[in-house]
Amino acid sequence: MKISPSLLAADFLNLSSEIEKINASEADFLHLDVMDGVFVPNISFGFPVLKGVAKVCKKPLDVHMMTVEPEKWISHVRDLGAAIMNVHQEACLHLYSTVQHIHEAGMMAGVTLNPATPVETMTDIIQDLDLVLLMSVEPGFGGQPFINHTLEKVKKLKTLRDGSGSKAMIEVDGGVNDKTGALLAAAGADVLVAGSYVFGNPNMNEAILSLKNL
Ligand code: DX5
Ligand code: ZN
Repeated sequence: MKISPSLLAADFLNLSSEIEKINASEADFLHLDVMDGVFVPNISFGFPVLKGVAKVCKKPLDVHMMTVEPEKWISHVRDLGAAIMNVHQEACLHLYSTVQHIHEAGMMAGVTLNPATPVETMTDIIQDLDLVLLMSVEPGFGGQPFINHTLEKVKKLKTLRDGSGSKAMIEVDGGVNDKTGALLAAAGADVLVAGSYVFGNPNMNEAILSLKNL
């Protein structure tokens, strides 16, 4: 299992030491939640902050755009040196073009689905994706309870992915802890995002390893 700790749950007054802990951990990525107050009812951090984060972070960056018109930000995300850019299906009118533009910018392309968006909406694009990110809470806030129906979505998406020959990773975001993580691992998830569970643990690497070894 790959683990992508979400910086949203970090201590923002001590960001560099929080990132040093991630650098020293077994995490596979650092998950960065960009919110615009329009697509989701919250605002997190923007590119001036992320530039600083990118300078000190040694893990590949997994950027989750919770904004309208995410295609406007492709060059900004590329300039961070991000490995993955995730855009919401619900925010992209021309999803195919957006995915192509992310690839042209040299990044892996991920498409994110809100809890009520069916995985079948990926049928005609999964062959072009590097990742599908399933939200297991409504996007916008950390610390929310896991929506159990996500387990069914992971299973359906895995069947869809395997049947299409796509190599897209299945990532899940929201309410992930050791218990929900174990259920997600059994359902077929490849990457787990965890905010409060990782940053809320005095021993971050212990929390990361408890998910990684699922
Ligand atoms: C929510 C964000 C998540 C959030 C997860 O909109 O996309 O990445 O940080 O937080 P937890 O793990 O606390 O549910
Ligand atoms: Zn996220």
